[in-house]
Amino acid sequence: MESYIAEWLHLALRWLHVVAAITWVGSSFYFNRIDRSFRPPVPPVDRVSGQLWSIHGGAIYNYSRYPLGPGYVPDRLKWSKWESLSTWVSGACLLAVVYWWGASINLVAGGADSLSPAQAVMASIASIVAAWVIYDILCRVIPSDRMLSVVIAVLVSLSVWGFTFIFSGKAAYLHAGIVMATIMAGNVWFVILPGQNKMLQAIRDGTIDTFDVGADAKRRNFHNNYLTLPVVFAMIAAHFPMTYGHHYGWVAFLLLSGAGVSIRHFFNTMHAGKAQPRWIVVGLALGLATMVLLAPANLTGGTSAATASVDVAKVGAVIHTRCAVCHAPTPSMDGFTEAPKGFVIDTLDKAARHADQIRQMAVATDVMPPGNLTEMTADERRLLADWIAAGAPTK
Ligand code: HEC
Repeated sequence: MESYIAEWLHLALRWLHVVAAITWVGSSFYFNRIDRSFRPPVPPVDRVSGQLWSIHGGAIYNYSRYPLGPGYVPDRLKWSKWESLSTWVSGACLLAVVYWWGASINLVAGGADSLSPAQAVMASIASIVAAWVIYDILCRVIPSDRMLSVVIAVLVSLSVWGFTFIFSGKAAYLHAGIVMATIMAGNVWFVILPGQNKMLQAIRDGTIDTFDVGADAKRRNFHNNYLTLPVVFAMIAAHFPMTYGHHYGWVAFLLLSGAGVSIRHFFNTMHAGKAQPRWIVVGLALGLATMVLLAPANLTGGTSAATASVDVAKVGAVIHTRCAVCHAPTPSMDGFTEAPKGFVIDTLDKAARHADQIRQMAVATDVMPPGNLTEMTADERRLLADWIAAGAPTK
């Protein structure tokens, strides 16, 4: 019953989270595109720094940018704020249901010196708070924009590397994504929105012409713009064990984040009317470098030497004791009411048919068993490797 309710909460929250994130990322992309597309109006218009004509859905729209407002506070002023809050809150709830409630399966690294589920949950909470506090302090003490960007890139890199020591690979990636997403949501709620409120107050007070938007709000907007693609990658990477399950998964994370930043930069230059396609090339090159880094050793078809004599009975026993306690129609493992992801390998025949997936999850990586709950040994993984290399015989 408990896992059934957890599953429904998971479904509902994921649905909400994805929709909220679409609205946030969508409006962020949209405003960045509009903002960079503005050109000075001809003839000049009082207080307007840029204008843009756009066509959509059968109508032509005219946008005007008033950097310090039109001289009064419009009656109806549309804000962009609930997108970021709903994305962050739904994400935090999803984290709690999937990774805190299911900490022993999804969060802990497993192994002898692994954190306990309760400690891992504490570490997860601490990482979220620390992400914002450290980032915010850095923004206040480092005056140079360039230096700040470098320091933040280094810190995010260190965080994904550090998380691999305390969490499972999947949770390490996710937490690096949460660090970035928390920085982004914090920027909106703690810096950008209060700044906008001050600006409105200055318009009301008649002091707007001496109002300074502040370099800080600008660079936080800049960080949010460039973090978007790495965050989205971190959120979908859980579907790709070849990335987070690899020994150098954290390097792959950095390379692909770099690719995301490059590609974002290309779009920024394009909307500004000065497209620099070389940034697409940089992004693709980083993607290619990641493919090379993660390539399995036997990609070119080389098989291991010891293929002839695999003890098939032993293989059956390993899969039975290490995997099928969960991956069976009615699992014997506590907390499982059905085979996870519908993936059933309760007989050697079925295992043989799914040899490729088993290789991906338990040989090329040690993603399965999760947290090594069933205490699979390195020898057993080698046995599965030999069995698969021999063509996964069933007798
Ligand atoms: C403690 C229970 C448990 C054990 C033991 C376990 N798994 Fe899993 N397995 C899971 C869960 C939970 C998932 C879903 C993970 C996710 O959502 O990312 C999963 C997913 C998988 C998948 C991905 C299926 C898909 O279609 O996405 C494969 C393949 C897999 N396991 C193989 C194995 C193998 C091989 C073993 C034994 C070496 C094993 N598992 C042992 C719980 C278990």
